Order: sequence, then C-alpha cells, then structure tokens
Amino acid sequence: METVQLPIPRSIWPLPARQTLAIEILDQRFLPHHTRVNRLETVLDCARAIRDMEVRGAPLIGITAAFGAAFAVQEAKRLEGSTHEWQTAMGHLIAQLRAARPTAVNLHWAIEQQLAYMATRQDDEKLALELFEHAIVLMDEDRETCRRIGTHGLGLMRQIAERKNGEPVNILTHCNAGSLAVVAWGTATAPIYLAHLEGLPIHVWVDETRPRNQGANLTAYELGLAGVPHTLIADNTGGHLMQQGLVDLCLVGCDRVTARGDVANKVGTYLKALSANDNGIPFYVCLPSSTIDWGIQDGLAEIPIETRSPQEVRYVRGMVNGQWQDVLICPPDTPALNIGFDVTPARLITGLITERGICQANKEGLRSLFGEMQDVDV
Ligand code: MRU
Repeated sequence: METVQLPIPRSIWPLPARQTLAIEILDQRFLPHHTRVNRLETVLDCARAIRDMEVRGAPLIGITAAFGAAFAVQEAKRLEGSTHEWQTAMGHLIAQLRAARPTAVNLHWAIEQQLAYMATRQDDEKLALELFEHAIVLMDEDRETCRRIGTHGLGLMRQIAERKNGEPVNILTHCNAGSLAVVAWGTATAPIYLAHLEGLPIHVWVDETRPRNQGANLTAYELGLAGVPHTLIADNTGGHLMQQGLVDLCLVGCDRVTARGDVANKVGTYLKALSANDNGIPFYVCLPSSTIDWGIQDGLAEIPIETRSPQEVRYVRGMVNGQWQDVLICPPDTPALNIGFDVTPARLITGLITERGICQANKEGLRSLFGEMQDVDV
C-alpha cells in the first residue's frame, strides 16, 4: 500500500462517470513550464494524445489505451446497430488506437486486457462503464507495480550506498521513466524515490534525451519537485562520466522487452549500455511485466521502431521570454532522421528489475519470475 505521496503532478485520472465517460491527462508537451490539462472522451482523443505525445512513456500509453477501449465501446454502441454491427465498429476504433505509436507493447497489452475482460461480461448495456471501471483497476495496479519495482531496486541501491560509505550513489538515467511516464513512482525512478525517501545519499545524472528532451523537460522537473539531487547532462556526456568513475549505476526504463531479454528503449540507451559495459558499471532496466513481449525473441529483428518527424531534430523547442518557441538549429533544408528508440541486446544488461524481483536478461531469468509464461510458445 502506498503511504507516501510524491509531490509530482498526476499524469492521468478518470472523471466521475456521467452519461459520457471521460478522463483527464496532464499534457506533457508543455512541461515543465505550463500545466495544461486535456479532457479525453473518444478513441480518437486517446489516439491523438498518444501519437502527439500529450501522454508518453510505455505504461502511461497503456493506461490511456485502456480508457480508449472503454470509449470505443461507448462510441460504437451509440451507433445502435446489432451486436455484430457495433462490435465491428468497435474493432475499427480499436485498430486506430493500436496504430497510435508502434514501439511500446503496453499499448497492445492494455487493449488485450480490456478485450479479455469484455469477454467475461454479460450485460451489453453496462459494458462501456464496466470497461471504464476496469481501466481504473489497471491504473491502480500500475501504481502498485511501480512501487514494487522500486522496492526491488532499492535493495541494489542500499548495497552500493554501503560500499560508498556515505558518498552519494551516482545513478545515470535516460529519457523519462519517471512518475510522468506511468501512473505513479515511475519505473527507473521508483528505486530512486524510495532511496531518497529512506535518506540514502543519491545523485542522478539526467540525460537531456534529444530530440524531444524528455530528460530535460520531464525527469529534471519531477526529480526537482521531489527534492532528489540531480544534474542535467548533454546526451553525449555519460561515457566520459563513466570513465571518470562518476557513475555507480545506470537505471533506465523500456518500451518492449523480448522473451530473451533484449530491450527497446529511447534512442541513445544502447550507447549508454555499451559505455557501462566497457567501464564495468551495472546497467539495469526497470519494467512492469506488461512491457514483456513474450511472442518475440530477437529485439533487433522483431521490435518495431518508431520514426518521427525530422522537424523534431531540426528544431529545439523551449521557452523564450515566457513564450514557447521552436528554434531552427541547422540549415532549414538539412536532411534529418528521427529514430525514436534503439535496441540494447540482453548481453549488455546486468539485470531486469520487475515487480516480481530482479532477474537476468535472458529467457531463463524471465521465466524464473514469470513461471506462468512457461506455456507460451516462444
Ligand atoms: O518517446 P517516449 O517519451 O514515450 O519514450 C519513453 C521511454 O523511452 C521510456 O524510457 C519508457 O517508455 C519507459 S517509461 C516507464
């Protein structure tokens, strides 16, 4: 049971159920400078919020999609056709939701959870409301899952802190796998917050994470609100810090883990893993089991990697004299490529921190924690 509230704004919350079901989300495109809240009440609202990164981070994408599935039923049933007709309409709406972003498998996981739940319900009239309530259950489970990831990671932090004899434990993190990427606690930040609450001396190196700057805009913001000592660094700095002995541990999140432990996370993660490996620094990936894609093995060959607009690379977005501005940083017609994620092979990963404990990044490790997946044909 969560007892300590972190002073970080909520990422998503349901509105009281009325005739039209709806949720609100914190629009992360405007953080850290503006708090803008958007109301979502249709599948297209949810698909747009995921695609345009009003919400982002694999678990939060999943929870938004879970509410989206409830909205799909709400909208399809308003068409008032036969069961077959509204179910077909719902299938089309859900397909739009699935297409919103390609890499985070939590999107599909959440939709599958909702479809499986739907199959157990009898009363068509109440279906949309029941799915909405089930999305709230998934939301609450996500909070608890992240807290558990935190308690498992905390053990590692304690060990390192003991070795460091009062000196701060230096953690490097990439992108935002924080509270804002989930419902609460974060994945990579959960052990960090618990260590901080426990009074362990810690300090976090925050990769800025170009081109969307989730590290600078979101991780620095939420660590600041929680009072966790941190320093923002340019993406290329981590290797140098590792060579200088200034990083004790890397903690990152992920968007999809294969059954053999390959990990897709925000582009740049692979370079940090290589550097950590070269310098003998533990490199841990934090994940809820909803991020494991049991149906695939080879991350490089099988994980779909998002490509986004080259404009995000050509421009840097920021606040100038109280106004949001996009600043062109190259000749306007420069060809640019914007790959959103990369794959870190399992061999570079020290361990996976899940809600059930820590395991090796391989098939045996994952199955030691998730025995019920023995039967999945992978
Ligand atoms: O493009 P984003 O901001 O959705 O990418 C987010 C990440 O890469 C996170 O590390 C990952 O989703 C894990 S969030 C707990």
